[in-house]
Amino acid sequence: MSKYTNEIEKRRTFAIISHPDAGKTTLTEKFLLYGGAINLAGSVKGKATARHAVSDWMEIEKERGISVTSSVLQFHYDGYCINILDTPGHQDFSEDTYRTLMAADSAVMVIDGSKGVEAQTRKLFKVCVMRHIPIFTFINKMDRDANDTFDLLDEIEKELGIATCPINWPIGSGKKFRGVYDRDTEKILTFSDTQKGTKEGVIEEIPLSDSRADEIMDPEQKAQLLDEIELLDGASADFDQELVSKGKLTPVFFGSALTNFGVETFLEHFLKMTTSPLPRVSDIGEIDPMDDDFSAFVFKIQANMNKAHRDRIAFMRICSGKFDASQEVYHVQGDKKMRLLQPQQMMAESRHVVDEAYAGDIIGVFDPGIFSIGDTICAPGKKFAFEGIPTFAPEHFARVRQIDTMKRKQFVKGINQIAQEGAIQIFQEFNTGMEEIIVGVVGVLQFDVLKYRLENEYNVDIRLETLPYEHIRWIANKEEVKVDKIIGTSDMKKVTDLKGNPLLLFVNSWSVGMTEDRNPGLILTEFSK
Ligand code: G4P
Repeated sequence: MSKYTNEIEKRRTFAIISHPDAGKTTLTEKFLLYGGAINLAGSVKGKATARHAVSDWMEIEKERGISVTSSVLQFHYDGYCINILDTPGHQDFSEDTYRTLMAADSAVMVIDGSKGVEAQTRKLFKVCVMRHIPIFTFINKMDRDANDTFDLLDEIEKELGIATCPINWPIGSGKKFRGVYDRDTEKILTFSDTQKGTKEGVIEEIPLSDSRADEIMDPEQKAQLLDEIELLDGASADFDQELVSKGKLTPVFFGSALTNFGVETFLEHFLKMTTSPLPRVSDIGEIDPMDDDFSAFVFKIQANMNKAHRDRIAFMRICSGKFDASQEVYHVQGDKKMRLLQPQQMMAESRHVVDEAYAGDIIGVFDPGIFSIGDTICAPGKKFAFEGIPTFAPEHFARVRQIDTMKRKQFVKGINQIAQEGAIQIFQEFNTGMEEIIVGVVGVLQFDVLKYRLENEYNVDIRLETLPYEHIRWIANKEEVKVDKIIGTSDMKKVTDLKGNPLLLFVNSWSVGMTEDRNPGLILTEFSK
């Protein structure tokens, strides 16, 4: 037990994952509306700025300014203190998107009912699975024609490999959407379209056995619902909190974020089923969030795009105890006692300075260039390091050519610093030294960021030549394998990363499999620990 138990137990820190346009922003807005953090939904982030043109850097800069403020949102609801972590999508998809998931204790997966599982959801989902955190599914846009409900669940199970447990069940979709049936209470929550920005329409709860239920559904819909309930009771997995907690079973909810239907019931169930801050693994064992002593790790570093302010913000997740701005902390990797400067938290759309925060919370602190991703901060007198954050596989690669070769030093310095911040990964040709540099990124926007920053911060012009590789693999058993002896496919390239680890680049997944077949004993991985 800790003196902070009350504060810590009411915290819920989760990320929302989805493919762009599935409704993540709309759902977040509705959550905030319930928390009273904003008065009218629709003000989380400017849509116009979110959809920037890649060529217009100033737009990107503005957008990044916005994504700083909206990257973590805190609000209160029903006695809970909720931290939502945004996972940027669109062109802004980057390694940061993956790293954000390292700071969450659970994930909400938003799926468009007419599209099913899409590419970006699949990628983010993999990271959630790796962490064994609970995953909750909200199938959105039921006010539009949706795919067959069983097919949607089947797709989640097959494509993502997680069992599903529908908590409620939709009655029709699109023009014929009538609401959802709650399997536990055996009641229908009736759908009524609401005006954008209002809290909710009149949602009635009617027992399925009540004659009023027949006024809501036509006889065909009712017969179908009864059939589906019967099928479901026989075929679907039972709700099992333990399996949910381990990330092996996802509770599924249906609704329509835009019309604010099914959002509150989702939020209420979710808050009960999800977890308060989880312990974190360190080199001295698990660190209990209820430990009185403060500890945190850095999961994201945001460079300031404004030339006049070359500072950065380091985002850290508090893992145990209480953060008190007036107290000194110890930065383990830097071996230094310090006071964290300008600690900030984001409340809806405004940033504010925080004096205290608790395990589960995220704070952003001013970083004069001392923090790296994965660093541990703890109470003075303690010394341990949290398990590192994996490096995620980039999917786009380019060769970097420096236009003015006289500026070699600035170029090497710049590109290394940007790589250390974690915006890009850099590789060299295996066995050839620093001459040729290959850059790998998770989202193509990072190429523009790199070019812009080298020009503006380091005064170096570069040219990027896109390479055809899409798959990268680390060699898990590099000590046992002779890298020069690896027999690959003709499209394979051997490179090394900043730490000297050997890696293989491939144009397609077929070549990955082929190389594994040709080299028995070779173990390839998609993440680097
Ligand atoms: P994202 O953050 O996941 O990218 O999605 P976002 O919430 O921005 O939603 C994408 C589009 O889908 C928006 O329309 C939004 O209004 C719409 N949408 C979200 N939830 C629902 C829903 O439950 N039903 C229906 N019918 N539409 C939904 P847009 O036209 O692109 O933007 P806007 O002009 O409405 O803001």
